Amino acid sequence: MNLHIKQVAQKLHTTSRTIRYYEEKGLIKPEKSHNDYRIFREEQIQLLQTILSLREIGMSTNQIKNTMENGQELDHHLNHQRSILYSDLLELKDMIGALDEMIASPSGDLFEKAKFLKELKEKRQAWTDRWSFDQQAVTYNVDLKKEGYAFNVHEGYDEALERAYQLIDASVGETGVDIGIGTGNLGSRFLEKGSRIIGIDQSDEMLAICKSHYPEIDTRHGHFLRLPVMDHSADFITTSYALHHVEEQDKILALEEMNRILKPFGRLVIADLMFDDDEERARVLQAFKNQGNENAIEAIEDEYYADRSRLVSNLENLGFQVDCNKINDILHIVFAEKKG
Ligand SMILES: C[S@@+](CC[C@H](N)C(=O)[O-])C[C@H]1O[C@@H](n2cnc3c(N)ncnc32)[C@H](O)[C@@H]1O
Repeated sequence: MNLHIKQVAQKLHTTSRTIRYYEEKGLIKPEKSHNDYRIFREEQIQLLQTILSLREIGMSTNQIKNTMENGQELDHHLNHQRSILYSDLLELKDMIGALDEMIASPSGDLFEKAKFLKELKEKRQAWTDRWSFDQQAVTYNVDLKKEGYAFNVHEGYDEALERAYQLIDASVGETGVDIGIGTGNLGSRFLEKGSRIIGIDQSDEMLAICKSHYPEIDTRHGHFLRLPVMDHSADFITTSYALHHVEEQDKILALEEMNRILKPFGRLVIADLMFDDDEERARVLQAFKNQGNENAIEAIEDEYYADRSRLVSNLENLGFQVDCNKINDILHIVFAEKKG
């Protein structure tokens, strides 16, 4: 079916002007008839429909152009766009929260509140991947089984994941969110229980591998400090070997995000590298020093192992009942249940 510009505009509920604009931007290339009228064949009409749909979900014309020119999968861009929209949503919620406070106490320090808001916005955006997880993705599952490192952070890995799995005790129809899902080693276990799993990661490559192994997992590009999940929609949350990439002072924000998406009575398991407290951290580091194990000290200092006591008291302040256990000096499991 060949249509003229007005017919296409009518069919797609848009205007001829909009269509000409996308043509000027090089997004579509309609054929021209001998008398210079634009002719739209089915393929161009479908392309235009896609462009209009992507504009509707907030993608800019330039983003759409890049998507088309780079030949990247549409899925990839939709996933990133979702991440951006959730980020905008959170920013709006933060702003409304601050505004409400300003209205409630107009005599309060407006500037202080605005400053807090600005810092929060920056924190949610600032995290960068210093560890290049995209590059680790392909060999991740093989590397974590390798023996013989002077410092093996993955000692106890299988046990930690198994305990996390048991503690969550998932059931059919529940929605679970695995944050920093990586290649899917923990999140995928809940599929056999009939749970629906949303896997969040900041690394596209990790997500791609996870998806290729477990197509049923709903993989989402996202971040601890801005989770691409609606409020109170998760029955349980798991995270293994990931939270220690979030700076200590930002962990509270990560816990608040988990609290935001978790339903009342929801469960949370954090299986991660951490210390009981600052004192224990000093003791373990000293022990490595005495052994002359500089690799261990360097590795620990390059990341943000939590202070478990702080993690627990932050969770309790958020209204969780918390239970902990320890697999070895640096590997702990924190299980928390949200009170109603
Ligand atoms: C060491 S891997 C652990 C993967 C998996 N959870 C496991 O236990 O095998 C850490 C994962 O967390 C992700 N990650 C690190 N920091 C993150 C952040 N701030 N937000 C979301 N994902 C993050 C990384 O991209 C990586 O896939």
